[in-house]
Amino acid sequence: MQTLTVSLGERSYPILIGTGLLRSRELLAPQLSGRNAVLISNTVVAPLYAQLLKHSLEGQRVLEVILPDGEQHKTLATASRVFDVLIANRIGRDAVVLALGGGVVGDLAGFVAACYQRGVDLVQIPTTLLAHVDSSVGGKTAVNHPGGKNMIGAFHQPRAVIADTDLLQTLPDRELRAGLAEVIKYGLICDPIFFDWIEANVDALLARSAQALSHAIYRSCQIKAQIVARDEREHGERALLNLGHTFGHAIESATGYVDWQHGEAVGTGMLIAAEMSQRLGNLDPSVVGRLRALLQRAGLPVAAPRIGAARAFDYMSVDKKVHAGRVRLVLLTGLGRAVVTSDYPDAALRDTLAAHFG
Ligand code: NAD
Ligand code: GLY
Repeated sequence: MQTLTVSLGERSYPILIGTGLLRSRELLAPQLSGRNAVLISNTVVAPLYAQLLKHSLEGQRVLEVILPDGEQHKTLATASRVFDVLIANRIGRDAVVLALGGGVVGDLAGFVAACYQRGVDLVQIPTTLLAHVDSSVGGKTAVNHPGGKNMIGAFHQPRAVIADTDLLQTLPDRELRAGLAEVIKYGLICDPIFFDWIEANVDALLARSAQALSHAIYRSCQIKAQIVARDEREHGERALLNLGHTFGHAIESATGYVDWQHGEAVGTGMLIAAEMSQRLGNLDPSVVGRLRALLQRAGLPVAAPRIGAARAFDYMSVDKKVHAGRVRLVLLTGLGRAVVTSDYPDAALRDTLAAHFG
C-alpha cells in the first residue's frame, strides 16, 4: 500500500492506494471507531462491493442507502431523498458517511455529508478510475441543476480516501477510458515526463496492468494533493485542474448528462482548449497532435457534438468559471504548462467554438 497526504493542517487526510484494501478490517475499522456508518452507493456498485465492505466493518452499525445509477440522478432531489432516510433512521452528527462508488456517488454522498446536520465525517471509497485519480480527492462536492453542472455544492474534505485498485477490474472499458482523460490532464497541466509515461504505457493501462494503474493513480493523486494543499478553495492554481472542463461542461449540459461520460467530455474539452491555445500562437501544433493521438489511442472521442457555437457559449457562460462577465479558460502554453485566463481575443473563442461545435 502507498500513502499520500493531503496537507491541510488539522484537516489533513491520507490517500491510501493499493490492492485488497476493502478486505482489510485493520484499515477500515479505525475509520469508524465505533460510530454509525452510512454507506452510500448505487445499484451497480453495491451488488459488487457493499457486502465485502460491510464484512470488513463487522460489528458496526451500517445503514445502507442505495441510489439509482447515473449522472442524471446527481440532483438535489436525490440528495433530499437521502436526507429523508437519514432523518427517518435518526442518524446523528457523529455518523460517518462512506461513499462507495464513482464520481457521481462520491459527489452526491459528499454533498450529503457536507450538509447533513451542518456536516458529518466522510470517507471516500472510489470505484472508478476517474474517482481514484480526481473526484475522491480535494473536497469538492456537488449536485447538478438543470441550468448547469455542479451548480449546488460545498467544499467538504474527506477524513480519508481509500483507493483499492482491485475494484477497477469490474469497471466497464468505457469508464476506464473516461478516467484516463483525467490522468492525461495531469501530464498536460504540469508534468511532461508523466505525459511521456502515459504515451508509453497507454496500452498497459487499457489492459489494466496493476503496476501501470497504480503508478498512474499515485502520480495523479500526488499532483492533485499538492495543488489542493496550496489552493484548497480554488482562488488560483487549483483552477488549472479544470483544463477542458468548461468546454466539456457545455458538451455534458447540452447532451443532458446522459450520452457523454464526464471524462469523455473533459478529454474532448482538453483538445478544444489545446487547439484554441495553438490558434492564439501559444502552443506548438506538435503538442496538439500528440494529445489528439493519445486521446484516440485511449479510445476517447475527439469530436464534440455539433450543438452550435452559440449554444455551447451559453452553457459555458453559466459555468462556475465565469469571472466578471468573462468566461475564464484554462489554456496551454506548452506541454506541462497551463494558465488560467480571461484575457484572450473574443474572436479566438468564437472561431474555436465554431470549429468544434458548428
Ligand atoms: P460514475 O460515477 O457515473 O461511474 C461510471 C459508471 O461506472 C456508473 O454506471 C457506475 O455505477 C459504474 N461503476 C462505478 N464503479 C464501478 C466498478 N468498480 N465496477 C463496475 N461498474 C462501476 O462516473 P465517474 O466518471 O466516476 O464520475 C463522474 C462524476 O464525477 C461527474 O459527476 C463529475 O462531475 C464528477 N467529478 C467530480 C470531481 C470532484 O473534484 N469532486 C472531479 C471530477 C469529476
Ligand atoms: N476536478 C477539479 C478539482 O477538483 O478542482
